[in-house]
Amino acid sequence: MPDLTGKVAIVTGCASGIGAATVRRLVADGAQVLGTDIDAQGGAALCQEIGTRFAQQDVSDEQRWDEVVAEAVEAFGRLDILVNNAGKVSGRSIGDVDMAAWSQVIGVNLTGTMMGCRAAIRAMTKNPGGASGAIVNIASTTAITPLPTDVGYSASKAGVRALTKSVATWCAQQGNAIRCNTVIPGATDTGILAEAEKATPGLKQVVAATSPLKRLADPAETAAAIAFLASDECPYMTGADMLVDGGMMSLHPGF
Ligand SMILES: NC(=O)c1ccc[n+]([C@@H]2O[C@H](COP(=O)([O-])OP(=O)(O)OC[C@H]3O[C@@H](n4cnc5c(N)ncnc54)[C@H](O)[C@@H]3O)[C@@H](O)[C@H]2O)c1
Repeated sequence: MPDLTGKVAIVTGCASGIGAATVRRLVADGAQVLGTDIDAQGGAALCQEIGTRFAQQDVSDEQRWDEVVAEAVEAFGRLDILVNNAGKVSGRSIGDVDMAAWSQVIGVNLTGTMMGCRAAIRAMTKNPGGASGAIVNIASTTAITPLPTDVGYSASKAGVRALTKSVATWCAQQGNAIRCNTVIPGATDTGILAEAEKATPGLKQVVAATSPLKRLADPAETAAAIAFLASDECPYMTGADMLVDGGMMSLHPGF
């Protein structure tokens, strides 16, 4: 288990699924965590149960990013970890996408992740003892094998991978010891998968059956990878993609 004692983390999208599992995991590993979510009721309930701090946040709101990061630094004295996890699907193909649906999914999944990286790096640069930190951005296997039924979601997640590598290499060039990596979950048993099923009926069953491990991921399994990348266990990892997909991206389509 990575030791996160003394680390301060922000986890977005903490009210359910992978975000909730990540808050549980980081707290269990010793971190102080500020969980955020657009869902005030669900996020507050989760954080109260775990005994950690909660702030309501729409990750697509630029000003709110500065406020949330300032709240974490004021409460805990520093910022070591940001998990850009909040995300949504749009359920629109290139055949029926409109600008409102496109802008919303790009705004939350891609622009929200960029604004989180920017705000976190500003705070991490000022950490007592010198600039340091770890950012973990959550993409999706749809960044590699896009869904024909959700053009905006797939494009946003492909963007998250490239964004992560740009952030990682820029930080390395600054010599500031801030790492940035991507976790790429496969089909995980959460609310977003149920939502995606509306555009792609039977998706859950199909992905479970076609996964080499023949099941969906439990959010805690994804949270374990996030905790590892957020920890000091992997100081040479930056700009990396960590697949947590049950082998799905490794399987030849003919088998
Ligand atoms: N579940 C999967 O199969 C799967 C696969 C690949 C990637 N992912 C990614 O994992 C991440 C977590 O999703 P999940 O599977 O736990 O789904 P989820 O729906 O259970 O959780 C998503 C959370 O994000 C929050 N959220 C949505 N819009 C927000 C906004 N604008 N600001 C702040 N919070 C917002 C929701 O309220 C919710 O609590 C997402 O980025 C998702 O794209 C999930």
